[in-house]
Amino acid sequence: MSADRSDSGNDAVRGRSGRFSEPVAELVKQYTASVDFDKRLADADIAGSLAHARMLSAIGVLSTEDLATIERGLAAIRGEIERSEFAWSRDFEDVHLNIEKRLIALIGDAGKRLHTGRSRNDQVATDIRLYVRAAIDDVAARIAALRRALLDLAEAHAGTVMPGFTHLQVAQPVTFGHHLMAYDAMLSRDAERFVDCRARVNRLPLGSAALAGTGFPIDRDRVARELGFDGLCENSLDAVSDRDFAIEFAAAAALTMMHLSRFAEELVLWSSPGFGFVRLADRFCTGSSIMPQKKNPDVPELVRGKSGRVFGDLVALLTIMKGQPLAYNKDNQEDKEPVFDIVDTLLPTLIILADLVAGGIEIDAARMRAAAGTGYATATDLADYLVRKGVAFRDAHEAVAQAVRHAETSQLDLAQLPLDALQRFSPRIGDDVYGVLTLDGSVASRNHAGGTAPEQVRSAIRAARAALGGR
Ligand code: ARG
Repeated sequence: MSADRSDSGNDAVRGRSGRFSEPVAELVKQYTASVDFDKRLADADIAGSLAHARMLSAIGVLSTEDLATIERGLAAIRGEIERSEFAWSRDFEDVHLNIEKRLIALIGDAGKRLHTGRSRNDQVATDIRLYVRAAIDDVAARIAALRRALLDLAEAHAGTVMPGFTHLQVAQPVTFGHHLMAYDAMLSRDAERFVDCRARVNRLPLGSAALAGTGFPIDRDRVARELGFDGLCENSLDAVSDRDFAIEFAAAAALTMMHLSRFAEELVLWSSPGFGFVRLADRFCTGSSIMPQKKNPDVPELVRGKSGRVFGDLVALLTIMKGQPLAYNKDNQEDKEPVFDIVDTLLPTLIILADLVAGGIEIDAARMRAAAGTGYATATDLADYLVRKGVAFRDAHEAVAQAVRHAETSQLDLAQLPLDALQRFSPRIGDDVYGVLTLDGSVASRNHAGGTAPEQVRSAIRAARAALGGR
């Protein structure tokens, strides 16, 4: 294959220049091609190419005519891709070579000049950073929407009493609003993690070329500004090779899915007949093919199940990275599918859960209150009452334990025991004790920052709303 053949430009784009003496094996072509999935980077790739070409022209490496031709060609390609007319081909390996090959076919020599001072190594690192940055912005907006839905529900139930659990045993009464606000607290930290990770994602690798930089007098700051990056990746070897920014994104996503999975697990429990705390709207459930009575909480179950995919994606990314010597290695091509899978899992999960919380869930406050009334949830309140009457906490704990044992044998709640029965466990008990044994008295008494009292829940909601910058 001689260098002066008229299609030698396309052969180079095919990654099969005059350097090679035989065509690539068919299975190897399939094995190494990434275009089937990395075509999702096309938008980012075109934006990166435009910024690169404009910079080359600004420093006088590319003529203004060539730049105009390249801009026209890339705009045409963008249109073809949008209209699904673009002919993606595994013959050209990846998204970058497919677009470059098409550009050369459309505009000729100017297209062959675009890759000056650039490598696919800094090109793909730029593309994936642009993609992850956009994904972070989407995720952050979806987390905020889910939080708004949670805050609305929490406000409606700031005073709704439910049992709080430890070890999944009834522990102490809490308010449903307080319980929901626990998830808001988790999600607010998740959102912070994405914002924090965005700062490290948003740095420009382009200009690092294959690994060592380029001899052309490039203006990287100009490219960074045009693409909205906050700064440059400082070291060219690091810039083309590390994917820690994608791993951080995956870790933030994994933590978010873990929190959503915990919430989903509670929805599964709460909607089961044993609890009966909530009913999920039919649009979030399916039936059984054999048991006509069944209504299954598929959505929460899948949220729980899909968290595993995202954890797997995180581990895949870590593993892809861990054995790589500097600088770029083809291993990094394997970073894309986990990243895409995370986006394709996390975004719909957030959207569906926000819809469910906003209008797909009916709360059975009476069932919640009834459940809080079983299991001696106010026993700690009785102990605290005795402490206030001068009994040492450990002695109070023992006295109440015996009272609970007695109540259990008589199948009564503490509040149902007559005063003289209670006084057998401590003579300090007076008839004011019934005030602390009620559920509402119990939750209202926990009236400090972070406590479950309705007043505190409302103030936590106000603070969260202010931080979210809405209503
Ligand atoms: N498709 C490749 C990737 O995703 C692009 C970079 C290829 N670079 C190379 N030297 N083969 O990483």
